[in-house]
Amino acid sequence: MESYKQFGDEIALALGHKGYYYIDQFFMTEEINQLRGFAQDLFALGKFKSAGIGKDHSFQHHKEIRTDSIYWMDRESLPKDLIFFYQRFDAFVSEVNRSCYLGIVDSELHLAVYPKGTFYKKHLDVFQHTSARRLSFICYLNADWKPEDGGQLRLYPQPLDEEIYLDIEPIGGRMLCFLSGEIPHEVLVSQNERWSITGWLKGPSYW
Ligand code: OGA
Ligand code: NI
Repeated sequence: MESYKQFGDEIALALGHKGYYYIDQFFMTEEINQLRGFAQDLFALGKFKSAGIGKDHSFQHHKEIRTDSIYWMDRESLPKDLIFFYQRFDAFVSEVNRSCYLGIVDSELHLAVYPKGTFYKKHLDVFQHTSARRLSFICYLNADWKPEDGGQLRLYPQPLDEEIYLDIEPIGGRMLCFLSGEIPHEVLVSQNERWSITGWLKGPSYW
């Protein structure tokens, strides 16, 4: 698909130059509403868990660092009418593999909600016990997000310079990706319920 080929080249260029890339309307409003509805139903059923730091054996709850709640997704249990999500995600992963040479072999995705007053302090997405995460992938699912709702994602593209940052608003349909091991980032306090799908494209782990 020609437009996707161009898309991959654009991502490669942005990641190479700046370490991050984002695009609006990666999902359309109707798709965002469907995905958010799915997340909200699971949340109402009590399926979300308060998020920790790390995964599996290094898992710890650190309320002073992170106060969102998450639900790990699995492809098999996704309702049929939401298949478009994985179709778009898979196409994105193939394009990244074609154009970015990150050696992606696996991925993981979770739904996330930041209720009013929650945040995620500055961090890197690569953990101490594994280096597998190569690219962080985020899609925002919020309808009518306003600047006063806060909850911006603050990226620090130059890790050694705290003064240089870029704030990205969690606008519905927006997709953002960045190099997991290289871009420190934080979620500023959200003044409204903030919904997203967050994932990681993974390669082999070197430790
Ligand atoms: C994360 C994260 C950012 C966001 O889950 O590791 O940094 O904008 N999320 O939701
Ligand atoms: Ni993160």
